[in-house]
Amino acid sequence: MNDFLNEVTKLRNRIHTYIDEAPLVDSQGVNHERVIFLLNQALTTELLCVRRYKEHFFEAEKLNEHVAAEDFLVRAGEEAEQVDMIAARIQQLGGDPVGKVEISSSDSDTFPSTPRRLETLMREDLIAEWVAVGGYLEIIEALGSDDPITRRLFERIIAREEQLANNMRASLFALAS
Ligand SMILES: [Fe+2]
Repeated sequence: MNDFLNEVTKLRNRIHTYIDEAPLVDSQGVNHERVIFLLNQALTTELLCVRRYKEHFFEAEKLNEHVAAEDFLVRAGEEAEQVDMIAARIQQLGGDPVGKVEISSSDSDTFPSTPRRLETLMREDLIAEWVAVGGYLEIIEALGSDDPITRRLFERIIAREEQLANNMRASLFALAS
């Protein structure tokens, strides 16, 4: 598994484990501290998405795939909007947006020496988004009908990610045909 997918999967597992260990809704109502923790995991996930799309933009440019490169750039912008949406909710709940983007592999700061195919980049994005959405669905389920604002935020982000995934699938089909 590559570094980005590894990191997104780690974040998704962290969401899963945290919800298991600490219910978001208890007899006292919604525990904002726990919700803020999960929002920060989502924030980090989206920051990783921004970084990944930016890197894919550079890789596509290097391949002279300028149309695809432009698409990656637009997606980076859309993911950055999601970072802002999540950060705003964290602040509304009285928390601090803390997104820690760390890629564990030692060679992650170097540009891939062997150019990767456009298809490989898009597949990486699709898988990473699916993994991220899985975590967001768990948060929605854990919140139930409590904290409708956070719930709606994640529903909105999932809808955006689904739209993005559909567009990407269409691009992948276009590449294959
Ligand atoms: Fe994303």
